[in-house]
Amino acid sequence: MSKELIRLRNLCMAFDDDPVLNNINLYINDKEFLTLLGPSGCGKTTTLRIIGGFTTPTSGDVLFDGVRINDVPPYRRKINTVFQKYALFPHLNVFENIAFGLRMQRRSDSADPAGKKQVRIPESEIQERVMEMLEIISLKGFEHRKPDALSGGQQQRVAIARALVNRPKVLLLDEPLGALDLKLRKDMQIELKRIQQQVGITFIYVTHDQEEALTMSDTIVVMDKGSIQQIGTPEDIYNEPKNAFVADFIGESNIIDGLMVRDNLVQMYGKQFPCLDGGFADNEPVDVVIRPEDIDIVSVEQGQLAGTVTNVTFKGMQYDIIVDFRGFKWLIQTTDHCPVGARIGIKIDPDGIHVMKKSSYSGMFGDYSSFSEEYDELDDASIGSDEEERGDET
Ligand SMILES: Nc1ncnc2c1ncn2[C@@H]1O[C@H](COP(=O)(O)OP(=O)(O)OP(=O)(O)O)[C@@H](O)[C@H]1O
Ligand SMILES: [Mg+2]
Repeated sequence: MSKELIRLRNLCMAFDDDPVLNNINLYINDKEFLTLLGPSGCGKTTTLRIIGGFTTPTSGDVLFDGVRINDVPPYRRKINTVFQKYALFPHLNVFENIAFGLRMQRRSDSADPAGKKQVRIPESEIQERVMEMLEIISLKGFEHRKPDALSGGQQQRVAIARALVNRPKVLLLDEPLGALDLKLRKDMQIELKRIQQQVGITFIYVTHDQEEALTMSDTIVVMDKGSIQQIGTPEDIYNEPKNAFVADFIGESNIIDGLMVRDNLVQMYGKQFPCLDGGFADNEPVDVVIRPEDIDIVSVEQGQLAGTVTNVTFKGMQYDIIVDFRGFKWLIQTTDHCPVGARIGIKIDPDGIHVMKKSSYSGMFGDYSSFSEEYDELDDASIGSDEEERGDET
C-alpha cells in the first residue's frame, strides 16, 4: 500500500477577487503518477504552482508528509519542476546540463562533527549520478552533445534528467510534451511512464489532452472552472464518469435525458432499458451516457430504438455514423457500413449504459448535431426531414 505524500486541504485561490480555485481537496500518494486534466484556464498550472511553492494560496493548506508547508520556499521543498518551455543551457553539453544542479549544491561535511562546514559534492559522485541519469533517459553516449544537436524529444529527456538528478521526492510536469509533434509525444508518454516507474518517485502531471492522461496515469483528477469534477483511475473516469462534463471531456459520449424508473431500469425516449446502475430514487431524472462503441446496429424490428443515418465517415478501423433519434443526434462507431438515409435499429447491452446524477452540466453536452452539421455542409446531402418526423420509433 502506498502512503500519502501530499495533501491539498480546502485550497482556494483568487486573483484580484476572481476565484480560480474553489476548495480543492486532494491527496497524492508516494510513487503515484497523478494527472491534473482539464480545459484551458481551469486552474491546473495554478494548482501545480501552489504545490511547487511558486504561488501562495488565498486560503487552505498544502501538507507534505503530514507537515504544513505553505510557508516553505520552493528550493526547500523536496519537489522539482519541468516546465513546458524547458530551457537547457545552450552553451553547456548534455553532461554539464544535467550536472548543473549538483555542482551548485553544498551539503554538510560528514568529516565535520559539528556538521557546520559546507562542502561541494565530489566530482566522482557527480560523474556517477549523471551517468546513472543518462542511462535512465537512454542517452548514454550523448554526454558531449550540445542541446542544439539534439531532437526535441531528446532535449526534453535531458530536462527531465536535470530535474531528477537532485533526487526529489516529487516531480511536477506542466504540459512537458506540448511542444512535440504527435508521434514523438506518443513515444515520450511511454518513455516518461517508464522513467517514473524506474526511479520510483511521485509524478504530478498537467495536461489538457485526455488521451495522454488515460495512457500514463495511475490517477486522473478532472478539473473544470477551478473545481475538481472527479478523481479516479483512467478506467473509473472513462467507464463511470460522474457528470456530463467528465463524460464529454473524456472520449466520445452520447448523453441522453433519462428517468431512473427503479434500480437497473432506465427510461429514454419513453422506452425502458435494463442497466446495471442503482442507488437513485425511483423516477429520478438522470443523464444517461452511452459510448459510441457500445451500440449495436440491428434491423428496425429488432431494435430498442430506431433512427435515421444522417452522416457516415470512414475512420480506417471503423465508421463514425451519426444517427438521428427524434432530432437528437447520436454518434455510433461500427464496422458495419450503413448508407446515409437508412433506417436502422439499435441495441444497447445493460453494461453499455451508464447513469449519472443530474448536474449543472446537464443538457450542455452529448448531442452530435453540430458535428453532423459540418458534414452536412460538405455533403450538401439533405436527407428527408420527413423521416425525422415519422416518430415511429419501435
Ligand atoms: N498571475 C495571474 N494573475 C491573474 N490571473 C491569473 C494568473 N495566473 C492565472 N490566472 C488566471 O487563473 C485561471 C487559471 O489559470 P491556469 O494557468 O491555472 O489555467 P490552466 O488550467 O493551467 O490552463 P492552460 O491549459 O491554458 O495552461 C485563468 O483564468 C488565468 O487567467
Ligand atoms: Mg497551464
